[in-house]
Amino acid sequence: MHTIRSTILGCGSYLPERILDNAELAHRLDTSNDWIVGRTGIRQRHIAADGELTSDLATHAARRALESAGIGADAVDLIVVGTSTPDDTFPATATRVQAKLGMTRGFAFDLQAVCSGFVYATAVADNFIRMGQARTALVIGAETYSRILDWTDRGTCVLFGDGAGALLLRAADDAGAAGTPRGANGGAEPVPGGGMGANLPRGILSTHLHSDGRFRDILYVDGGPSATRTVGFLRMSGKEVFRHAVASLAAVAEEAVAANGLTLGDIDWLVPHQANIRILEGVARKLGLPAERVITTVDQHANTSAASIPLALDVASRDGRLKPGNLVLMEAIGGGLTWGAALARW
Ligand code: ACO
Repeated sequence: MHTIRSTILGCGSYLPERILDNAELAHRLDTSNDWIVGRTGIRQRHIAADGELTSDLATHAARRALESAGIGADAVDLIVVGTSTPDDTFPATATRVQAKLGMTRGFAFDLQAVCSGFVYATAVADNFIRMGQARTALVIGAETYSRILDWTDRGTCVLFGDGAGALLLRAADDAGAAGTPRGANGGAEPVPGGGMGANLPRGILSTHLHSDGRFRDILYVDGGPSATRTVGFLRMSGKEVFRHAVASLAAVAEEAVAANGLTLGDIDWLVPHQANIRILEGVARKLGLPAERVITTVDQHANTSAASIPLALDVASRDGRLKPGNLVLMEAIGGGLTWGAALARW
């Protein structure tokens, strides 16, 4: 039987030039480097320049993903941008990215699942590919949270940063690779490596999505075209979010490995949404995963919402930790609440 699945052709990311460190924040606000590092693990964040839009960040990341795969934008059928900081109310940021990449074909849309946006976007793109409606898809997480922060609220503004990351997916047929992936990515043949995962094909293995709208009030932006006609600011009950995060992320991680007949011991890398080092450590502890198997970028990037997972994937791929054939478990939770996981064989 021929089964279509999504292989990972390449990845890329982009961070705005300007770095805002904790010392600079401590000059502006009643906060300190010690408090921020101790409670969150964050040391610095990148901030988009005036006039630099979410679509600009997304386009840079997409170009780098295309370069890493060695293919042109004209081969892309689908762009899904996970973002909760779009350029405009409409049209979708994804269509602006499409234009900036010089594409004149394919289709593009945004997906709004806040910090879970990249996992949701991966699930959507993977399903389009599995259904044969797209062959090559750019899955992007891109955010400019600096524009929705109340810079006088020390409880929230220290937590976030701007950035973008992109993953390029391409259809492959399990009866024989249909894509033309560069390097070792793609192809149905198992790659040597330890554990049960070595028998699984490369690419996206499964995605698992959840939401519960009853928790809207613990994390939201108090604006929007329908309710207020203004953009608003991010509001959060930090302790409540923390409590839900650890429990839901651990549960969805276990759901993902069980769905593939694996155990957590088979996972090479946990690539979590980078909200807060204490959440990352709490989830890893609950799952029994050592810190050496968790990709952590929150110290350098802060929380970049939908961009944090593809940024972390790109960092780990380029520094050589993430190797072809590795089993990668991605998981995220965000406003909604939304949460989910994606299991992939790199
Ligand atoms: N600097 C110094 N003091 C601060 C700061 C700051 N930046 N922010 C808050 N405080 C103070 C508070 O005013 C409070 O002071 P008080 O005791 O005099 O009233 C004290 O620190 C404790 O405040 P809490 O909010 O209770 O601090 P907590 O220990 O809960 O830490 C934090 C806050 C870091 C937000 C924590 O709740 C947390 O990590 N929550 C998870 C939420 C998260 O990471 N969200 C990211 C977005 S959601 C997502 O991506 C999933």
